[in-house]
Amino acid sequence: MSRGKFITLEGIDGAGKSTHLSFIAEHLRARGLSVLTTREPGGTPLGEMLRDMVLSQSMHVETETLIMFAARREHIDKVIVPALERGIWVISDRFTDATFAYQGGGRGISNERLKILEEWVQNGLQPDLTLLFDVSAELSQQRLAFNQSLDRFEQEKQDFFKRVRDAYLVRARAFQQRMRVIDSSRSIAEIQKELGGLIDALAQ
Ligand code: ADP
Ligand code: TYD
Repeated sequence: MSRGKFITLEGIDGAGKSTHLSFIAEHLRARGLSVLTTREPGGTPLGEMLRDMVLSQSMHVETETLIMFAARREHIDKVIVPALERGIWVISDRFTDATFAYQGGGRGISNERLKILEEWVQNGLQPDLTLLFDVSAELSQQRLAFNQSLDRFEQEKQDFFKRVRDAYLVRARAFQQRMRVIDSSRSIAEIQKELGGLIDALAQ
C-alpha cells in the first residue's frame, strides 16, 4: 500500500480555507481515496484543549509559539503520521507555515527560532502540497465582518494581517515546489475549478 499524501491549507483568517476543505476532501474521495480532515491548532483531544487556551487567553508570544508546536507534536504523532502510514490522505486546515506567518511575520519571532522548533517537532515531515489561499487584509476583514464572535487572532488589526499575508507570500516563493498561491478574491466556483486541477495532478 502506498503512503497517503499530506495537504495543508493556509491563508489569513477569512481567506476561505474552511470553505474549500470539504470540497477538496470530497474531490479526493470521488477518486476512491481515503481522506482524513483535521486542523491546527488542534486535531487531538489534548490539541483541542491547547487550541481553546491559545485562542482565548492572552499570553507571551513565546508561550503562544510553544503551544502551537506542542499541539503539533501530538497531532503529528497521534494523527498525521499514523494515517499517512495506513495510506490515508490527510488534509489539515493549517500547519507550520501558519506559525511562520502568524508568530513569525505577525508577532516578530525570528525564523531561526521557528526553524529549530520545526526540526525538533517534525523530524523532516513536510506537506506534499500546501494551498495558500491569498486575499488582501481588507477583503479578509470584510468577510469576517459577518462573524459574531471573533477569537484572539481574528480581533487583530489590519496591519497584523498584512504582515501575516506578506510572510506567507515570502514562504510561497521560497518553497515553490510544495506551495501554490490561490487567488482567493475570485468566486468560489472559479477557485474550485483550479483546486480540482491541482489535486488531480497530485493524485496521478
Ligand atoms: P477561513 O477558514 O480561511 O477563515 P472561511 O472559509 O471561513 O475562511 O471564509 C470566511 C467567509 O468568507 C465565509 O463567510 C465564507 O462564506 C466567505 N467566503 C469564502 N470564500 C469566498 C469567496 N471566494 N467569495 C466570497 N465569499 C467567500
Ligand atoms: P483557524 O482554525 O483558521 O480559525 P477559525 O476556526 O476561526 O477559522 O485558526 C485559528 C487561529 O490560530 C488563526 O487565527 C491562526 C492561528 N494560528 C497561529 O497563530 N499559529 C499557528 O501555528 C496556527 C496553526 C494557527
